[in-house]
Amino acid sequence: MRSFKQTVLPLAVTLLSAVDTADAFWRMPCRSRTGLARLDPLMDPGTISDHAHVIHGGGSFGMDTVPTDLQGSSCTSCEVTQDKSAYWTPSLHFQYSNGTTVIVPQVGGMLAYYLLYGDDIQAFPAGFQMIAGDKRLRNFTWPVPDPPKSSWSGDEASQAALRQKALGFNCLNYEAAAEASLYRHFLPDKDYLDANCLDGLRLELMFPACWNGVDLDSSDHRSHVAYPTAVMGGTCPEGFETQLPSLFFETIWNTYAFAGEDGQFVLSNGDPTGYGYHGDFMMGWDEDFLQSAVDTCTNLSGEIQDCPLFDIQSDDDAAQCLFDVPDVLADDNPAGPRDGLPVSVPIQSGPEYATTYPVYGASDYSSATSKASSATTTSAASSSAVVPTLSYSSATSTVTDKYGGGILAAVSSSYVPDATYTSSAAASSEAASETPTTTVTVAPTAAQTAGNIVATSWITRGNEVIEMYVQEVEVTVTATSTPTAAAKHRRHLQQHVQRREKHARR
Ligand SMILES: *[C@@H]1O[C@H](CO)[C@@H](O)[C@H](O)[C@H]1NC(C)=O
Ligand SMILES: *[C@@H]1O[C@H](CO)[C@@H](O)[C@H](O)[C@H]1NC(C)=O
Ligand SMILES: *[C@@H]1O[C@H](CO)[C@@H](O)[C@H](O)[C@H]1NC(C)=O
Repeated sequence: MRSFKQTVLPLAVTLLSAVDTADAFWRMPCRSRTGLARLDPLMDPGTISDHAHVIHGGGSFGMDTVPTDLQGSSCTSCEVTQDKSAYWTPSLHFQYSNGTTVIVPQVGGMLAYYLLYGDDIQAFPAGFQMIAGDKRLRNFTWPVPDPPKSSWSGDEASQAALRQKALGFNCLNYEAAAEASLYRHFLPDKDYLDANCLDGLRLELMFPACWNGVDLDSSDHRSHVAYPTAVMGGTCPEGFETQLPSLFFETIWNTYAFAGEDGQFVLSNGDPTGYGYHGDFMMGWDEDFLQSAVDTCTNLSGEIQDCPLFDIQSDDDAAQCLFDVPDVLADDNPAGPRDGLPVSVPIQSGPEYATTYPVYGASDYSSATSKASSATTTSAASSSAVVPTLSYSSATSTVTDKYGGGILAAVSSSYVPDATYTSSAAASSEAASETPTTTVTVAPTAAQTAGNIVATSWITRGNEVIEMYVQEVEVTVTATSTPTAAAKHRRHLQQHVQRREKHARR
C-alpha cells in the first residue's frame, strides 16, 4: 500500500466555455386546452374515461380518436401548426372541506419538450402512442430524495422505479432558489404549498424515450417503450435500443389561489398523493416531417422560432382550437364548482394500489354502484384522507453530491432581472384569460449556447410568466495535492433567465 505525503495546495478551477456535446431540444408551447373532459381514447377507446383530463394539441379529439385522426385535425392548440399530436394529463382540483371541488386554474397551458438526448434519434413513427405513469399508484418505495443517479442499481434502477422518478411536482416560488426538475415525486400537502409555493405548482412528466423499434402501442400502452437509465437521458435498456425524442410535459397550476382555504388538492383520478400522476401522448405529426425536425431543429435555444421548418401560429389562433365534448359528458361540469370529483370518482389515498370503480354515465353504472356501495372504502366527500407530508424546505440542502454529475442536481442561483423587459404592468383588468397577451423575446445570451441545457422551467409571478434554463457547463478542476493529480471534469449547473412574458393572469 502506498501513501502520499499530504500537502494542501489551492485548487485551480477553469471554466470551459465550449462544450461540444450539448443536447438540442425544442419546447412546444400549447397555451390553451382543446378541452377538459372524461376522455382518454388511448386508455379507454370508445367509452367514458374514469377520470377527467386536460387535453392539448390536435383538434380532432374524441372518444374514438386514433393517431391517424389527429393527423387530419384542422387545427391544433399548440403554436407549431404541423404538430397535431395530442397531449393529456389528469386535471388538478381543489376540494373544499364541505366536499365541493373546483379545478385549479391552469397557467399558460402546457409545454411539451422534445429533448434530443442520445444519437440516431428516430421520430415517433406514424400511429405511435404511449402513456407515462400509473393512475392507480399511491405509494413510493424508493429512497427519498433520489440518491445520485450513478448509485441507482437493482430494484432502484428498475423500470417501475424509473417510472415513479419520472414524475415531478415543482414548488414554484420565484423569490427563492428554483427546484430542479423531477426533484420531488409527490404532491406536497396543502400547508406546504401555502407556505412555500407562492407561484403555484408545476407538474412534470418524463416519457420513456427508448423504443422496441416494432410496436406502435402495446396492451398496457407502456411495454413497447422503456426509460433510459437516468430517466431524463442515459442508456437505453436491451431490447429498447431505438432512441426516440425524449418527451417531457410541464403544466403549471395556481395552487396558491387557494391559500388559506380549508381543503385538499387532488388529481382528477382521485389521487391526493400525486404518485398516480400520469399522461398520454398520441402521435399527430407527419412522421417524415418530425424526422426532419429532429435532424434540423438543433439550435440550443430550444425556441420553436429558431427552427426554420416550423410554421408558427399566434396563441390567439391556437386558442380557437376546441374539440366537441360528446353529449354523454355534456352535464359533467368538470371545472366545478361541483360536488366531489367529476364524476363520482372516489378519493383513494393509498398506500395500496387504488381500486377500480364504476364509471358514472357508463351503461352498467347503476348496477355496478349498487354492488360496489358496500365495498367502497373512501368516498369523494372524505376530507380525512391521509396525505403524505414529505416536504423539503430546500432543494439544495438535500443534494449531497453537488458536482456528482447528476444532471438534475439542484441549483442555488436566484432570480436574475432581465433589463430588456419593460414592465408596463397593464394586466388586463377583468379578463381571467390564461393566455399570455404580449411576448417579449430576448436573444439567447452567449452563456446560454455554451452549455448543455438540462432543464428549463416556467415560473409565474404576478402578471409574468418567466422562463428559466438550468444549464450544465463543463468545469475543469485541477487538483495538485496528489501525485496522480489530473484534470477532472466536473459538472456545474448554471441558471439563466431567458425570456419573460407578460401574462394577463386574472
Ligand atoms: C363549500 O365551500 C365553498 C367555500 O367556502 C363554497 O364556495 C361552496 O359554495 C360550498 N359548497 C356548498 C355545497 O355549500
Ligand atoms: C440559434 O438561434 C439564434 C436566434 O435565437 C441565432 O442567433 C443563432 O445563430 C442560431 N444558431 C444556429 C447554430 O443556428
Ligand atoms: C405500494 O404500491 C405497490 C404497487 O401498487 C403495491 O404492490 C404495494 O402493496 C403498496 N404498498 C402498500 C404498503 O400498500
